[in-house]
Amino acid sequence: MPIARPLPGQTLIAPSLLSANFARLGEDVEKVTAAGADWLHVDVMDGRFVPNITIGQPVVAALKKVARVPLDVHLMIVEPERYIDSFIDAGAEVVTVHVEASTHLHRTLQAIRARGVLAGVSLNPHTPPEAVEWVLDSCDLVLVMSVNPGFGGQSFIPSALRKMEWFANHASRHNLDYIIEVDGGVNTDNIASIAAAGASVCVAGNAVFSTPDWGATIDLLKQRAAGGKVK
Ligand code: DX5
Ligand code: ZN
Repeated sequence: MPIARPLPGQTLIAPSLLSANFARLGEDVEKVTAAGADWLHVDVMDGRFVPNITIGQPVVAALKKVARVPLDVHLMIVEPERYIDSFIDAGAEVVTVHVEASTHLHRTLQAIRARGVLAGVSLNPHTPPEAVEWVLDSCDLVLVMSVNPGFGGQSFIPSALRKMEWFANHASRHNLDYIIEVDGGVNTDNIASIAAAGASVCVAGNAVFSTPDWGATIDLLKQRAAGGKVK
């Protein structure tokens, strides 16, 4: 059974574990979930698609044992199709691959869906939304990168707002119901305009983990996102 989608008008917060304390990952997962995290965003980097190297399937499997909310796995790796099954076996409930990294993207998305988890496609900041237009009916989620992938704590790239609007308009014009998720530089100052542009899942790494009270920050993010949606 795939996980529940965000309700209309709702904005989910997916803290990026990249900004957690890797030496105390289990504790941080429990703490950030108690603080209101809806999904846990897991950034998998291979040192080839992006310059950084982070975590792999064994860590996802360990996280699964303590996670009480869905694991949202963002594969920033080349040839992601080679690793889909092993990340799903490890416990991923959302699997997102990059359009720039998968030659046979349609097949890759179908393979993810066939496993009964949500299939996501992600686009780097320079990639036009049209690059994924012909696979959108095979997607449960579009992850709009609002930074160049590879590192946490970067600044939001404003053109991502227009890209999210494109996806929101396209979904209503063509009667598609993919989730729009945004990743990179989301904070309490820009989340209202991000929600207004159509995002219903917001990844937030630094904005949550660098603050002393994660619960207060997640509450404020949700509150401001709701304010953006009513405009
Ligand atoms: C960037 C990652 C992001 C990152 C977000 O490559 O995909 O998920 O951790 O971190 P912040 O919210 O700090 O920009
Ligand atoms: Zn990410």
